[in-house]
Amino acid sequence: MTAAITVPAPAPVTDTRLVAWVRQAAPYIHAFRGQTFVIAFGGEVLRSNKAEALIHDVALLDAMGIRLVLVHGARPQIDAEMAARGLTPRFHKGLRVTDSEALECVKRAMGVTRIEIEAMLSQGLPNTPLAGGFLRVTGGNFITARPVGVVDGVDFQWTGAVRKVVAEEIQADLAQENVVLVTPIGASPTGEIFNLAWEEVAEAVATAVRADKLIYLCESPGLVDRKRNLIDALTADEAEGLLAKKVPQADDVARALPGAVRACRAGAGRVHFLDYRTDGAMLMEFFTREGIGTVLTSAPLAHLRQATHEDVGGILALIAPLEADGTLVRRGRERLEMEIDRFSVLDLDGVLVGCAALYPISTAKGEPKSAELACLAVMPEYRRGGHGDQLRKHIEARAARLKIKRLFVLTTRTAHWFIERGFGETTVDTLPAAKRDLYNLQRRSKVLTKAL
Ligand SMILES: CC(C)(COP(=O)(O)OP(=O)(O)OC[C@H]1O[C@@H](n2cnc3c(N)ncnc32)[C@H](O)[C@@H]1OP(=O)(O)O)[C@@H](O)C(=O)NCCC(=O)NCCS
Repeated sequence: MTAAITVPAPAPVTDTRLVAWVRQAAPYIHAFRGQTFVIAFGGEVLRSNKAEALIHDVALLDAMGIRLVLVHGARPQIDAEMAARGLTPRFHKGLRVTDSEALECVKRAMGVTRIEIEAMLSQGLPNTPLAGGFLRVTGGNFITARPVGVVDGVDFQWTGAVRKVVAEEIQADLAQENVVLVTPIGASPTGEIFNLAWEEVAEAVATAVRADKLIYLCESPGLVDRKRNLIDALTADEAEGLLAKKVPQADDVARALPGAVRACRAGAGRVHFLDYRTDGAMLMEFFTREGIGTVLTSAPLAHLRQATHEDVGGILALIAPLEADGTLVRRGRERLEMEIDRFSVLDLDGVLVGCAALYPISTAKGEPKSAELACLAVMPEYRRGGHGDQLRKHIEARAARLKIKRLFVLTTRTAHWFIERGFGETTVDTLPAAKRDLYNLQRRSKVLTKAL
């Protein structure tokens, strides 16, 4: 009798993208646990087909131990209510004038919207992130209001501004693991009810509870520069510069931006502008290195700019220790002066804290347009602050503008840093011929590449 030979079943196939995503998200999940996020969105979200997905993402953030305050608006719902009653909305300088009839519509629209959001947060359908958990939603008289009053001779009547936020009560609710839902209505000490702008309420709440993040969900990808390019990160000062120069922004971004700048300066951590129409926008913004929208920070982030001849000394000082220990290839002053146009630098109040260079590689016919990211360095005392990543992204964007299709890096010690940022290891023979011939066999650098 022969013993039966058991053939091991083949190992299940890995979904590499999923596994990589979850792994790279882990540090963020740790960092965000116990933090407070204020998520603000207009009533438009509820009228779109994105509300459900958004609520699922809110549930996921809650499950990760993030303390959540949701601030909602209801402008389209108020307009619909007014239209149903044959009333015409009145605005002055973009702000609704709330007369007594409008106020009735506001109360009704806000109430209905709030109930609908609560209902969505209470779902527990299987196969959704809401299954198995229960989100306790709370709210209350957290906002005290005052009238906006008469502006330019226009009496805003029951349109109000935030007078005070009862932060301790919100924090107490958050500590009980409740999701706090704030409706932009406030009572005054005289007992009158005021209609508030949700953007302002979000700013006031985020500032009062010292939120780690304030998130404005908009109908546009974020802030743009004069050429309409999306800005992925900027400081409150830079955002104020955009406002001062009247760089046009999408309507909803423009409405929230002044408050975002104030909140950022008043200690509300980071302010994000995200497009709610993008499925999973919050997840991509918070849990990937790249992000997806615009983030506003109060700290003076180092300023990224093209290097000039005045920077040669600073760059040499920055890279000299790395050349000495063999991390970077040695470049003399003369070569650096000749190649200075290839360099970008990070300037922090006049101090060069980082640099990186982009070298186009000449390619033969048929080879994809290629370039090398080289000489990436951050001053040791400024490391681990995202500066390296900022430089890398900048170089990648520069390469993309030059229609480069493949970006290479040759590195002896930093391969993993690049692999974690989307580069893949490859072999020397995949380099374009012009670069392959110059490859320094003795250095035995690893060759990494990324498709742009
Ligand atoms: C690589 C370098 C530019 C990163 O700059 P940085 O401003 O610290 O970058 P970031 O803040 O974006 O990233 C920091 C993360 O990279 C990690 N990191 C740093 N050096 C690394 C390396 N050699 N391999 C893998 N990961 C590394 C840090 O541990 C940190 O991760 P953690 O916070 O999860 O622990 C910087 O460490 C440096 O100047 N190194 C020496 C020069 C060099 O190696 N250049 C690349 C050759 S082309």
